[in-house]
Amino acid sequence: MAKEKTLFFCKDCGYEMSKWQGQCPGCHAWNTLVEAPAGGRGKRTASTSGRRNTAAGASAPTKINEIETQEECRHETGIKELDRVLGGGIVPGSLILVGGDPGIGKSTLLLQTCQLLAAKERKVLYVSGEESARQIKMRAERIGTFTDSLYLYSETCMGTILDAVEELSPEVMIVDSIQTVFDENIDAAPGSVSQVREITGTLLHLAKSKNITIFIVGHVTKEGNVAGPRMLEHMVDTVLYFEGDKTAMYRMLRGVKNRFGSTNEVGVFEMRGRGLAEVPNPSEYMMQGRLENESGSVVVCTMEGSRPFLIEVQALVCQTSFPMPRRTAVGTDYNRVNLLMAVLEKRLGIRLGDCDAYVNVAGGMRVVEPALDLALVAALFSSHHGRVLGSGTVLFGEVGLVGEVRAVSQAERRVAEAVKTGYDTCILPESNKRSILQAGNLDVSGMKLIGVKHIRELLEYFA
Ligand code: TYD
Ligand code: MG
Repeated sequence: MAKEKTLFFCKDCGYEMSKWQGQCPGCHAWNTLVEAPAGGRGKRTASTSGRRNTAAGASAPTKINEIETQEECRHETGIKELDRVLGGGIVPGSLILVGGDPGIGKSTLLLQTCQLLAAKERKVLYVSGEESARQIKMRAERIGTFTDSLYLYSETCMGTILDAVEELSPEVMIVDSIQTVFDENIDAAPGSVSQVREITGTLLHLAKSKNITIFIVGHVTKEGNVAGPRMLEHMVDTVLYFEGDKTAMYRMLRGVKNRFGSTNEVGVFEMRGRGLAEVPNPSEYMMQGRLENESGSVVVCTMEGSRPFLIEVQALVCQTSFPMPRRTAVGTDYNRVNLLMAVLEKRLGIRLGDCDAYVNVAGGMRVVEPALDLALVAALFSSHHGRVLGSGTVLFGEVGLVGEVRAVSQAERRVAEAVKTGYDTCILPESNKRSILQAGNLDVSGMKLIGVKHIRELLEYFA
């Protein structure tokens, strides 16, 4: 028998080579190449050639104007926060990857999705390679009641799963998780690059040929990549990440790729005793427990995709008792905090060189957009001088090295969110203020807009 051919794959980008080498020519990462049999793909040539045709949906080149599109081909799941991230609902025949740390709530979210879809008489198959059917049932009992349209299947062999799909013909299918399912034709451990590749390919073919919506659960590696190989992300239609601090109650579902909608949308959930609950108004939620009129605390309006959030930014600046001052930044970029402290020193003449500084974006969220700058500067100044901003004040703006306050995107949305949440003053870049007033789309009668050009101008608004 001929020796089975093996290839080398990059764990990160999926680059394929016949020889091993230290650095991947595709993504230039070191030590990411692993050996795996090229087998599975060769053996399946009959099905792969079929896959090629059906996946494309047409077997010959067709004029663009002759191709019919189906507009209303979307099913709402009933979970509004999920529908928002998906771009309005699930598209039949699409492959959706849900990634996230273990324990963040991926299985819970998908089981709740199954519950609602099954309640609408859609046939759903939940395949779990991680938990037994009884364990899933126990979780389901915490969540609520289910109809008979939901089928549970505890199985890890791809061939057996395909047989079950053939027999059941579900409309929606969940594979929890991709790392536990294996193809018996491939001589590699479940979760390895070649297995994940092949299984995803098979699922893609299944989704397109039978018009089944398939959700794939993928665990995130330490580097933050789903399943190690990034190519998993290239193969699927939609990639959603479920993230959040496990100690914080809320969870955020973020769309990072979506062939059927806009990306960068976020859905916010809260983990409760009876499953995940939607958080329709995150700004109010994030502000819970905030102490007003305390120095070192300000409120920023940040954007996640097209969604505005009000978040508290805290700073604590105090004389250091160490030879080297200590600085930490939780929930934002450490280097940005250091840079802004240097701007404060140089442009406002505030001595911070012998101060410890601790910065925290409250609520466990991570914000790295430039609009946070002005809030960081304000919080650092407030803590250092022991002066406070009015409790109804929100601020946002990018700060440059000269101390200038630069315009940021979607200013109108940010101000609208502040108005909606009941704030009465907004400090923002002067040019943003001008364009909001010129456009005149927003009713700002109850809101005092303060435009600033330089961080110097900010100081007079502290009490
Ligand atoms: P799970 O959904 O299994 O996470 P993943 O599939 O991403 O690994 O579990 C999420 C965590 O949430 C788990 O530690 C238990 C907890 N949990 C609740 O707090 N309330 C609930 O109603 C459920 C079902 C789980
Ligand atoms: Mg799970």
